[in-house]
Amino acid sequence: MTRYFRPLSFILPMMLFLTPSCSEKSNQLDVESVLNQAVEKVFQAQQLQANNEQIPRNIEPGDEFWSTQSYTSWTSGFWPGILWYIYDYTGDEKWRQIAHEKNLPVANILEGDKKDHDLGFQFFCSFGNGYRLTNNPQYKEYILTAADQLADMYHPTVGTILSWPHARDRYKAPHNTIIDNMMNLELLFWAAKNGGNPDYYDMAVRHATVTLENQIRPDFTQWHVVAYDTITGEAVQKVTRQGYSDESFWARGQAWGIYGFTMVYRETGEAKFLEAAQNMANVFLERLPDDHVPYWDFDTPDIPDAPRDASAAAIAASALLELSGLVKDPQQSEYYFTSAGNILKSLSENYRSGSENLAILNHSVGNFNTGSEIDIPIIYADYYFIEALLRKRAIDSKK
Ligand code: GLY
Repeated sequence: MTRYFRPLSFILPMMLFLTPSCSEKSNQLDVESVLNQAVEKVFQAQQLQANNEQIPRNIEPGDEFWSTQSYTSWTSGFWPGILWYIYDYTGDEKWRQIAHEKNLPVANILEGDKKDHDLGFQFFCSFGNGYRLTNNPQYKEYILTAADQLADMYHPTVGTILSWPHARDRYKAPHNTIIDNMMNLELLFWAAKNGGNPDYYDMAVRHATVTLENQIRPDFTQWHVVAYDTITGEAVQKVTRQGYSDESFWARGQAWGIYGFTMVYRETGEAKFLEAAQNMANVFLERLPDDHVPYWDFDTPDIPDAPRDASAAAIAASALLELSGLVKDPQQSEYYFTSAGNILKSLSENYRSGSENLAILNHSVGNFNTGSEIDIPIIYADYYFIEALLRKRAIDSKK
């Protein structure tokens, strides 16, 4: 990982006014104020990004600027995605140009040979938002090619996409699917209705159905990884990689599931997916601590001293806002909307970084088990936080 060091004196004067203000500690979250402060930080960070092929990933303790990774990282779509959301929010052409320049290196992934299910994150969060906002036909080509490459990893007997080709030996099975992979189905749904192979719709629905059958536990929490036999199509192992234990309740995995099944219901209208999204959301919300931000795993034994995961909170908040607009029952809708608001308010007041670094949120956990990215800013927390704020702002404007 590449690290950039800047003198604190360079950043501090500009940052002093970015610390969460007292007025935001009143009852209502001031969404615009939080977004405006985010824009300032992102503007500063993109100016300090020396090489567009090295993309912000996390901020190490004590550092001010993002450590970066190559565009091949699974997280490479989030930084350009943030820039596109800021163009969306501000409407300022300057941001369109910045987002375009910083996004382009991601397209190089299509030429490489190391690919996995993360193509959805990499291309849909970046070029997907870019295309939505600009209709640039070049972006559409990239998205459709990425969808073809993602679809190549679908196994028809199992009925899911292979998530981690590199992990076949680890699980002693030819096929595996992780709960995170639900997120990447959006790329297939989009391609199916925007000039790509229409069969991708059925592929995405089958993946979601098989995941629902094998990966969601009877108590509506999830197994992170399911390994499959490709002759019989049967699930042969249900384990974790990033949760506390195989049977524990990994917070971000649950957030991916809530978001993924909500999106699949939006695309299909099939009741079983709405039910799955609601069941997963309900158990997530029931287990949240008082400040509405989960521990990295709800079952880790060191609670209450365990690190929180702001990324899981931000992903869930964004999903809950969409869910609130899809459920028919007004009370359920209000419950999800209010719960998302509580999460966003707590993130804004208690988890936002001030002048110490250029991230928007502190306190996320990448992989606790490998000691990687514990209790630090991680780029996808900021991406989903901004997405959720924009979703809330859009809903608020119609109320
Ligand atoms: N998709 C990888 C993660 O959630 O850490």
